[in-house]
Amino acid sequence: MPFFMKQASLAWIFLCSAHPSLAFFKVPCSTPLVIQRADPIVQPGVASNHVHTIMGGSGFGFTMDYNMTQTSQCNSCSAIEDKSNYWIAALYYHAQNGSFHQVPQNGGALIYYEQRPDPSTNGAIVAPPAGFRMIAGSPFDRSDKGTIETHARSFACLNYDAPGTPQTHTFPTTNCPNGLRAQVYFPSCWDGVNLDSSDHKAHVAYPTQDYDNGPCPATHPVRIISIFIEVTWHTEQFGDMWYGDQQPFVFSFGDPTGYGLHGDFLNGWDIDVLQDAINTCNDGGGDITQCEPITLQPDSITDGCILERSIDEQVDGWLDALPGCNPIQPGPDDAHVVTGCDAPTEVGQPLHYYTDLTGDHQWEWIGCTQDNVGGVRILTGSYGDISDMTPAKCVEKCIADGYTIAGVENQNQCFCGNSVAADNMPKVTPMGNCLMTCAGDPLQNCGGYGFIGLYQKCDGSCSNLQYPVVPH
Ligand SMILES: *[C@@H]1O[C@H](CO)[C@@H](O)[C@H](O)[C@H]1NC(C)=O
Ligand SMILES: *[C@@H]1O[C@H](CO)[C@@H](O)[C@H](O)[C@H]1NC(C)=O
Repeated sequence: MPFFMKQASLAWIFLCSAHPSLAFFKVPCSTPLVIQRADPIVQPGVASNHVHTIMGGSGFGFTMDYNMTQTSQCNSCSAIEDKSNYWIAALYYHAQNGSFHQVPQNGGALIYYEQRPDPSTNGAIVAPPAGFRMIAGSPFDRSDKGTIETHARSFACLNYDAPGTPQTHTFPTTNCPNGLRAQVYFPSCWDGVNLDSSDHKAHVAYPTQDYDNGPCPATHPVRIISIFIEVTWHTEQFGDMWYGDQQPFVFSFGDPTGYGLHGDFLNGWDIDVLQDAINTCNDGGGDITQCEPITLQPDSITDGCILERSIDEQVDGWLDALPGCNPIQPGPDDAHVVTGCDAPTEVGQPLHYYTDLTGDHQWEWIGCTQDNVGGVRILTGSYGDISDMTPAKCVEKCIADGYTIAGVENQNQCFCGNSVAADNMPKVTPMGNCLMTCAGDPLQNCGGYGFIGLYQKCDGSCSNLQYPVVPH
């Protein structure tokens, strides 16, 4: 999102809050790590009830502890010392014929860390400890309960031509020309003892005056850093697909109101670094590059950091129903859990983003790597565009041309060769840069812009590169 828009939204926040603009820093997450039914806080070990979009460290799994966050090999957020995970529900478009389609996200998320001391003490703000986790909001809410927690969740209808459109607690009722942003403000008062609680909320509380301001209650006296997460979707891509007299978007848990917006935070920070950042980063504009204790990595790395899904079901494309058992529950009464549909409940094997050609073709996946657009390509044998390309079709072309390595790029470009220089070989986990759909099949992936997905002849001893992530 353009920088000026972020400025506009911040101005709005400051105008509408009765506190001075204090320092903060923003951690950008350039892409989701994975979008699937996973929730290691509320439903560890199983497929969760509804689909979430999850950002952060690749140590993420279905059952999590702090140590697992620290095993992350990459991170979809830009602060290297922050291996936390952040997630909120995925958003779907609900068509007039009853089908659903996932709304593409604009980037991953923007996480605000705001230094807001308790005004009654003006005392220290502490980093939440290792193992700390919490949720804000509830997927069962379908009405304004008048609570601070209700008001801690909101939507901004983005329109760069009319910045400052009032924020709402429900989905906006008009098309948002520049997308829809969901905003969740987490509690910033902690009981000082428990890392979690049975409802994942009772160990924390909002300040007594407002969700982002005021003294902490006596029950939760420890002021932790205020965490605020924003996720934006390209709802404008469905701008000419509205019908009837209601807005057409629903959260993955069957909420057409927006009141059920909720967010989850699982701490994976290097705690000393976070405390240092809280103590020393004093930029009034939230610029994380001014925050000396934090090391940043570029979007080219965070973009590539993804996990393979491991619930065996479709979550994007046109769907007959929301994944899981999630009929539309419009409220205003609280929603309830629905069970008994045929949705999978178990965590399965990872669903590979590459195409398995080890059978009939006897070729194996090597990985995704950066190509040298505008220079000497990393595969120089032969090249051709294939209008209905799939990895199999590219491999068949390379076989016909007499080569042993095939590379799919940018949906329809097929490169062949016999070797890849060591420097150009795929590194750690850059699969996420090779997720463009194939020209010949929207369910297979054919590289990216400037990124090439490599397959090689294996003849009998085939083993696709095991993408180094297993479900936990
Ligand atoms: C996490 O790792 C530390 C240090 O290696 C170890 O002492 C601790 O027992 C681990 N905790 C869990 C829950 O595995
Ligand atoms: C439902 O409507 C959408 C949008 O018009 C369309 O793309 C989709 O194919 C339809 N699905 C069915 C099952 O008719």
